Amino acid sequence: MSAARNDSKRITTHTLQEMKSKGEKITMLTAYDFSMAGILDEAGVDVLLVGDSASNVMAGHETTLPITLDQMIYHGSSVVRAIKRSLVIVDLPFGSYQGNSSEALRSAIRIMKETGAHAVKMEGGAEIKDSIVRILSAGVPVMGHLGLTPQSIYKFGTYTVRAKEEEEAQKLIEDARLLEQCGCFAIVLEKIPSSLAKQVSENLSIPVIGIGAGPFVDGQVLVTHDLLGITNQFKPRFLRKYADLHGIITEAVHHYVEDVKRKDFPSPSEAY
Ligand code: KIV
Repeated sequence: MSAARNDSKRITTHTLQEMKSKGEKITMLTAYDFSMAGILDEAGVDVLLVGDSASNVMAGHETTLPITLDQMIYHGSSVVRAIKRSLVIVDLPFGSYQGNSSEALRSAIRIMKETGAHAVKMEGGAEIKDSIVRILSAGVPVMGHLGLTPQSIYKFGTYTVRAKEEEEAQKLIEDARLLEQCGCFAIVLEKIPSSLAKQVSENLSIPVIGIGAGPFVDGQVLVTHDLLGITNQFKPRFLRKYADLHGIITEAVHHYVEDVKRKDFPSPSEAY
């Protein structure tokens, strides 16, 4: 059976738990398509997140709200076809799980069946508990997401750092504990103070993955297009750019345009 191929090398939710126990940091990046997912998988990224940030990065929307379940399934199945080792998690998009737990379960089952991914991610704490429990009871692993939750951007009104005030920090701590008790296998903490993220990850036994949450968590996640410098307008403090692909691609394409215009491409050796 093909699923048994490289099982010993594949990252599972249990591998992530072991990594936390050993103090080995977990790496996670976003992926939305086959070609990039293959590169990231081969480069050794532990977890590929088919994030609803595809709404911004791939489709050019201002927020993550417009992306649909069908579109997430398209991205998810493209990523799964490329991977040999990484764990693949797909975001449940806005509107696919907030209504009620039956709708949430239906959405999660569609993602698992139609993409072949290994888990889903959902934004929120106590307010979506019933949906999380229902999905988990169907055997679908769930990753939580607290702190800045972009699907609620119109409630927050801004993408600024969350949980700086005591009351919000306390709710986040309680929500994180609740997600662990419900059975989530990991949690993403987005854009919160390092000290709070440290407290949460020290007090939970499940892995905590941070984005803009400082160094004292069990792993880090970034949007791949930001890390590679493809999206060159987005410059939050937490982002470290590892390449300037915007510049490299622009230069390469300029060369191509120039070569075609001056009839240098294709050369005789590039023709049949
Ligand atoms: O959609 C996404 O890319 C995310 C990450 C920022 C964690 O949720």
